[in-house]
Amino acid sequence: MAEDEAQAAKRVKQLRREIKEHDRRYYEQAAPTISDQEYDRLYKELVDLETRFPALVAPDSPTQRVGGKPLEAFAQIQHRLPMLSLDNTYSEKEVANFYRRITRLLPDEKIPVVIEPKVDGVAVSLLYENGKLQYAATRGDGVVGDDITQNVRTIRSVPERLRGAVPKIFEARGEVYMDKRGFEKLNEERSAAGLPLFANPRNAAAGSLKHLDPKIVAQRPLSIVFYGTGATEGLDIDLHSEIFPLFKKLGLPTSARWWLADSVEEILNAIRELDKIRADFAYQTDGAVVKVDEFEQRERLGFTAKSPRWAIAYKYAAERVKTRLMDIIVQVGRTGILTPVAVLEPVTVSGSRVSRATLHNEDEIKRKDIRIGDIVVIEKAGEVIPAVVEIVKSKRPRSAKPFNFFEHVRGKCPVCGGPVRRDPEFVAWRCENLHCPAQTTRRLEFFAARGALDIESVGGIVADKLVERGLVREPLDLFELKLEQLAKLNLGTDEAPRIFGEKNATKAMHTIERAKTLPLSRWLFALAIPDVGKTTATQLARFHETIEDAANSGLLRRVVDYDIKKEQAKKLRRKDPTAYDVLRQDLIEIRDALIKAGFAKPSKSKIDKNAGIVTEVGPMVAQSVLEFFASATGKRILQWMKQLGIQPGSEKISAKKAADLSLAGKTFVLTGTLPSMTREEATAKIETLGGHVSSSVSKKTDYVVAGKEAGSKLDKAKQLGIRILNEAEFRKMLAR
Ligand code: IVH
Repeated sequence: MAEDEAQAAKRVKQLRREIKEHDRRYYEQAAPTISDQEYDRLYKELVDLETRFPALVAPDSPTQRVGGKPLEAFAQIQHRLPMLSLDNTYSEKEVANFYRRITRLLPDEKIPVVIEPKVDGVAVSLLYENGKLQYAATRGDGVVGDDITQNVRTIRSVPERLRGAVPKIFEARGEVYMDKRGFEKLNEERSAAGLPLFANPRNAAAGSLKHLDPKIVAQRPLSIVFYGTGATEGLDIDLHSEIFPLFKKLGLPTSARWWLADSVEEILNAIRELDKIRADFAYQTDGAVVKVDEFEQRERLGFTAKSPRWAIAYKYAAERVKTRLMDIIVQVGRTGILTPVAVLEPVTVSGSRVSRATLHNEDEIKRKDIRIGDIVVIEKAGEVIPAVVEIVKSKRPRSAKPFNFFEHVRGKCPVCGGPVRRDPEFVAWRCENLHCPAQTTRRLEFFAARGALDIESVGGIVADKLVERGLVREPLDLFELKLEQLAKLNLGTDEAPRIFGEKNATKAMHTIERAKTLPLSRWLFALAIPDVGKTTATQLARFHETIEDAANSGLLRRVVDYDIKKEQAKKLRRKDPTAYDVLRQDLIEIRDALIKAGFAKPSKSKIDKNAGIVTEVGPMVAQSVLEFFASATGKRILQWMKQLGIQPGSEKISAKKAADLSLAGKTFVLTGTLPSMTREEATAKIETLGGHVSSSVSKKTDYVVAGKEAGSKLDKAKQLGIRILNEAEFRKMLAR
């Protein structure tokens, strides 16, 4: 080793030690001893040395947190112990009932419980083996989660190695969050770059962790707080309350505040005390978790079908704040629907700044008697768009002005001045001008949204300006953009210009280019074909190699044909038995072809027992898809895509595999909250096994999966005698 490299090696070692120590002071003790600038200087010195002497780069260097290569997709990790969820309640009475229940179950015993903050972040599980981080996973469906190790490694408060006497296996569970200050800053930066804003810190954290490119994740101000353990070996503790000092000793951040209680009164006091101080925490909290302290008692209490009997989550009511309604404006949506929106005096609600709230529709304004100038109460529950809950009539100023939707609109679209018509089906006004810039913008946003082509840089204001400046008239125009045009795009006004810039434009061009080869299902969804949602797009992509195949789909044509012939056959049955027989033969042929392709399953329904089938995509939707591609617009889009060299990736599966999928042809309806999986997760599972998810219960529904607080859908399912599954039964079905 050359002399200066040896010197560098020494300095690198020293820098790493110092940086790690400062990280620890900053993240674990919230007591930094140097300024941010000083820290950055040390960090930069280390980066410089490692750049000059690449041989010195080591995987555990703090610089390596900036992340490795982007992933294609996340791998899956099976949790050693399932990650369960908790029973939730908003009522103190139910918390009291919880404690009384466990006292009844374990009579004549003292049952100490711990009360701690319920962190509103993203649940993760980190596995340490002999003190070294092995992997990090999301909760996923509770049994299997995404492998997000690369991303979690970029979080500075996550140690690569545990400190002190380490257990052989230590699975630490907690929440990744974005601290409130970091969230505000990130949104400011995104606003400056014209990117869509995150609704709240939790969304920002979740969005960041799901990024496939760890370099981007490394730039996000994420932190972590741990609240429990999963699988462990070589760990000797009996109480939950022991984990707080234990986490500290191991170098894992944990909640600074927690309470012990052994009576209903003490529990409720702790919950109320936490509510008073939680606004000062760096992370958002949405409740308090009450957990039995002794592991041995937990074991005896056990679990219900869905969650542990030894814990409950109390959720604080969604924050409501009052502010003034300054104005009501009318916005135009993707399909031209006019929606009234409240313009508010800006206030902070549940951790984010709010200046707009939806007023849903004309009737809502009338029903609540909302007037411009009123003091309104707004509420933001979770990720829902803020809504005006009520008005404070007693505070109504004399000058308050009623809002007359009809007069305001005066028969014209507020954006393009085009004609509007009241849509009888939706009780809403709709702008009829297909070229209305507002509609174009919304369509562009839809096209570029996360579930569609994921061209992030084109959301929000960039979409507005691209349309306003005439650079984009329809979504595919994006692919015609030149770097210079985009770089020069003015996101501000003529008086106060704000230029998009070369760097942002280059990034945007990159994601636009990448979109050309995204999977077919995303393209089919992004094109906004009437009646084609995500589920249908996925089904279609499974059975068609290319977009042209889907456009000229023999399968879809057969589905439509089958439906028409079936209707004819019904009519002819008595009138003309010979013609009926011919038709029936046709029907059987079509049926067999569809079944062979895996696009249909025989149906058990009595009505069409002769040749009955359930197809992947129903006849109405099939018709809609064929019509779209046969229309002038559809043809033009196909032609244009070809010219642009857009080739969506194939997701086609073999006919045999399609026919083998265990849930092929089955229709599910999900209702209520499932204990350990989100609706999206359940839907994804059903779809990968070939099933459909529908939003309403009908005779065609095969199964209703009912979670907590299932409502009218469950009643309807019972009425119709449809098979109802709880989560455990549903899981069994998935596993089969
Ligand atoms: S304990 C078996 N403690 O809330 C119970 N969870 O619905 C394991 N959460 O999935 C969870 N803060 O993601 C626990 N202090 C805390 C928590 C907490 C947030 C989340 C966690 C869990 C969900 C429960």
